[in-house]
Amino acid sequence: MAAFRIAVIGGDGIGPEVIDQAIRAADAAGKRDGAELRWNRLPWSSAYYQQHGVMVPADGWDTLEQHDAILFGAVGTPDIPDQITVQGLLLPMRRRFDQYVNLRPAYLFDGVQSPLRDAKAGSIDMLVYRENTEGEYAPIGGRLYVGLPDELATQTAIFTRRGCERIMRAAFEAARTRPRRKVTSVSKANALVYGMTLWDECFQRVAAEYPDVQTQSLLIDAAAMDFVRKPETFDVVVASNLFGDILTDLGAMITGSVGLAASANINPERKHPSMFEPVHGSAPDIAGKQIANPLAAILSAALLLDHLKLPKAAAALRQAVAAVLKAGQPRTPDLGGTAKTADMTDAVLAHL
Ligand code: NAD
Ligand code: IPM
Ligand code: MN
Repeated sequence: MAAFRIAVIGGDGIGPEVIDQAIRAADAAGKRDGAELRWNRLPWSSAYYQQHGVMVPADGWDTLEQHDAILFGAVGTPDIPDQITVQGLLLPMRRRFDQYVNLRPAYLFDGVQSPLRDAKAGSIDMLVYRENTEGEYAPIGGRLYVGLPDELATQTAIFTRRGCERIMRAAFEAARTRPRRKVTSVSKANALVYGMTLWDECFQRVAAEYPDVQTQSLLIDAAAMDFVRKPETFDVVVASNLFGDILTDLGAMITGSVGLAASANINPERKHPSMFEPVHGSAPDIAGKQIANPLAAILSAALLLDHLKLPKAAAALRQAVAAVLKAGQPRTPDLGGTAKTADMTDAVLAHL
């Protein structure tokens, strides 16, 4: 039986609550492919920081390197600035492990109500390829005259030809495997004249390598409008780090709930472990109530199973989630019901 070592970082708030459920579901699905998943739970979180003064211990990155993949919940708590928690764990991980592909599917499942009046099941079916290691998230900048009337801050976005082209190629490769074969690039070169102009030039160059794929380039503001106005026109979307972040919360909402939105942070070269996490955060407003929807975490575990090349297990997990949603119950409050977190997983396990 193939065995895999998976690092688990539940993190804060609802992070550990949904990750526990994802592990239950992935264990059951993994059996479909005859795989044994060995979970190594790591306590890194805001509570760990309160105790130890660091988010990750000195040998923490080396520890993670020894795993086949990482399953991640969320970090962030109201008592500690995100500057310390998120910037001490999540964003350094994406960069250090060169997880430059942030894949975020948005699919409207049968049985889920979209806030868009006319959206039918399956009519929204997109993959967002978000650049995950540079762009607007580069921690480059500084502050001057802090606390004084003349204080200032600079924040420099980094766009490299290598960084733009590699996420775009990943998007085109994905489009080739899908019936519609379309890639939409999200830009803002009308205002961000250096970085986004390079982005647009890279898109033209990479598009020329894929003449069989249809292309479109939209400005981010128009793209946001079209996510609502005609979401069915998107197939694969490629976006910078910040634009991809914002658009995927929007993508989650038009497909029913952020509680359904999964993501993969992938190092395609497999030099480093890839990391799988729901799109949502630690949701301090509902933490501890056992009402978080675990399906985003469970669908992230399905992406993890894909990455481990366990396609039967991944497909079985996705089918079970689809069946639960189609049945219309149980439903957690984000989907309009009163079910608890574990009830959703019980239903997924029953379908498995
Ligand atoms: P959030 O995603 O945590 O919550 C936004 C809203 O969505 C809240 O009303 C929340 O209750 C709801 N929600 C989120 N997940 C849900 C689920 N599974 N089921 C039902 N409802 C759900 O975003 P936020 O409130 O802006 O951020 C809270 C903290 O999380 C911040 O510290 C932020 O930096 C952090 N954060 C971390 C990650 C991550 O670690 N990957 C992602 C996003 C935000
Ligand atoms: C996400 C989150 C993170 C991001 C935050 C916590 C920095 O919102 O994974 O979408 O912006 O990437
Ligand atoms: Mn986000």
